[in-house]
Amino acid sequence: MVLSVVQSAEESSSAFIDSVFASRYVQDPLPRYNLSEKSIPKEAAYQIIHDELLLDGNPRLNLASFVTTWMEPECDKLMVEAINKNYVDMDEYPVTTEFQNRCVNIIANLFNAPVDETRRAIGVGTVGSSEAIMLAGLAFKRRWQNKRKAQGKPYDKPNIVTGANVQVCWEKFARYFEVELKEVKLREGYYVMDPVKAVEMVDENTICVGAILGSTLNGEFEDIKLLNDLLAKKNKMTGWDTPIHVDAASGGFVAPFLYPELEWDFRLPLVKSINVSGHKYGLVYAGIGWVIWRSKEDLPEELIFHINYLGADQPTFTLNFSKGKPDFK
Ligand SMILES: Cc1ncc(COP(=O)(O)O)c(C=O)c1O
Repeated sequence: MVLSVVQSAEESSSAFIDSVFASRYVQDPLPRYNLSEKSIPKEAAYQIIHDELLLDGNPRLNLASFVTTWMEPECDKLMVEAINKNYVDMDEYPVTTEFQNRCVNIIANLFNAPVDETRRAIGVGTVGSSEAIMLAGLAFKRRWQNKRKAQGKPYDKPNIVTGANVQVCWEKFARYFEVELKEVKLREGYYVMDPVKAVEMVDENTICVGAILGSTLNGEFEDIKLLNDLLAKKNKMTGWDTPIHVDAASGGFVAPFLYPELEWDFRLPLVKSINVSGHKYGLVYAGIGWVIWRSKEDLPEELIFHINYLGADQPTFTLNFSKGKPDFK
């Protein structure tokens, strides 16, 4: 006698799931731009998305990227273990917050920041140098505006002086935050900002001069010491106090190790903030950078938001809020 087994609807649907490719879920097309009328099992959804992503390039073979594409398996493990932490919630995840603070302090020390008696540096972890530059630029703009207001002078035409070799994030900052970008032109054989020309372009509306340590175009370091000295002279002559920001996205973790004597960082008095990317030097996936300020006075207090609805006071200065994948990198 042949025994036929009748499966319940539930059993047969789970049998279906075991063979995703044979299931009707991967045979019926899914709408591209609308929600589907019908649901599909998670296994089928995974397979469909996984397969479509195969059409992307392979990151490990991408040698033309500014960011690195491989990390030690232990880092992958740590990131997956912590991926469900919304680390803006500092009370709930104090150790993650402490790790971020340690990174800020380590980098500030590496860049020779003059730490005060509390020995706590001022800085923040960001998604990368672009966000870091937006924050640094905002601090300069606000500081300049506050000073101009106090002097009873107009404060509606801020500008920033950089070389024409700046990365696009500087142009974004200028456009998004309504600051005129005054670029020093490059010339044949000289592909970074000329400090003499930059200082000539500085006027009373200049919120800062942006110098680059590691130009995006060729990796070259700009002469930040010369810029500091020329600008200090001009400040003395005019009574202004135009500061310098160093975009060390691509050079901040090279110079301290290869050229420790080179003065480009907080050893120069006019350098008030520095950004650096974490993901441009190897063994770190995209998504991490920092901005460090010289002192508390260089980051206007009104830009820091104090949020208390998640628990105790949580000061933040960031363009993002909820954020997973803590910065163990
Ligand atoms: C000099 C410089 N500044 C800023 C950036 C932006 O960095 P991120 O990708 O970390 O936002 C880059 C990236 O190429 C860069 O080379």
